[in-house]
Amino acid sequence: MNMKLTPTGETLGATIDGLDLSRNLDEEELAAVMQALGKYGVLRFPRQQLGAAELKRFSAQLGDLEINVAGGYQEPGMPEVMILSNIVEHGKPMGLSDAGQDWHTDMSYSRQIAFANVLYGIKIPVRGGKPLGNTEFCNMHAAYDDLPAAMKRDLDGKTVLHDFNKFWEEMRRREGSRRAPLSEAQRKAKPPVSHPIFLEHPLTGRKVLYANPGYSMRINELPQRESDEVLAFLFRHQTQPQYRYAHQWQERDVLVWEDFGTIHNAIPDYLPHEHRLIKRCQVMATRFFRNGEPW
Ligand code: SIN
Repeated sequence: MNMKLTPTGETLGATIDGLDLSRNLDEEELAAVMQALGKYGVLRFPRQQLGAAELKRFSAQLGDLEINVAGGYQEPGMPEVMILSNIVEHGKPMGLSDAGQDWHTDMSYSRQIAFANVLYGIKIPVRGGKPLGNTEFCNMHAAYDDLPAAMKRDLDGKTVLHDFNKFWEEMRRREGSRRAPLSEAQRKAKPPVSHPIFLEHPLTGRKVLYANPGYSMRINELPQRESDEVLAFLFRHQTQPQYRYAHQWQERDVLVWEDFGTIHNAIPDYLPHEHRLIKRCQVMATRFFRNGEPW
């Protein structure tokens, strides 16, 4: 195996060289990638050359892929490949532009939660030689480990309610937003769901904090006021600088992160004429959890 792994030396992240993701990984390579994903949370595979079909094939080696319902922002004929972009062509946005949506975990609002995201950077904005539009992460193994012992004990077994509408309303409040409120039918299609506040990470066997400012609404078993206080504490705690890692993109990076042990945030520090184009697959956690419960 030619794979070479170089940790960032920060709280999360490693670079893997020597793997060509346009071909199928063998069993040994796949096992090594999975192990590294558990250990480092965020993996960068530089200098890849992938079409959408190859991105989909590599992602599907990690698990079942989500078919995104945000109509119009998928690769034609390939609903598993989503397009994230601020580029507008002939008056039509090329992709979904959700950067700056705050810290979150993709799909925590879904009964079937997500395992990993696979992003391929095709166009990355650069200003004065510096890449813009970093994707930032926080380490939820470390955030759990550092919680006060009494809080770990008191919250153990409790559950958090996650709601897609929380994020949607937050985006609607932004200046210039033209989003309409979610319709009754849309809310029914994405009802709030509950998940344990601490998950046992299926790759590491360690506990992680599974709550995030983007979607977490309340701790079900606590009175509203106490729940608000505890969640406010957890949101502050989990986003402290010592848990943060920023990925600075280079074109042709494939970035893979796992969604149990990390939360993330895309930084919107680029202007409309500074173009960003990323293709993304969302790998669901069906190999580990069924409807939020471990198999
Ligand atoms: C995401 O939240 O999956 C997108 C992250 C990014 O655009 O950097």
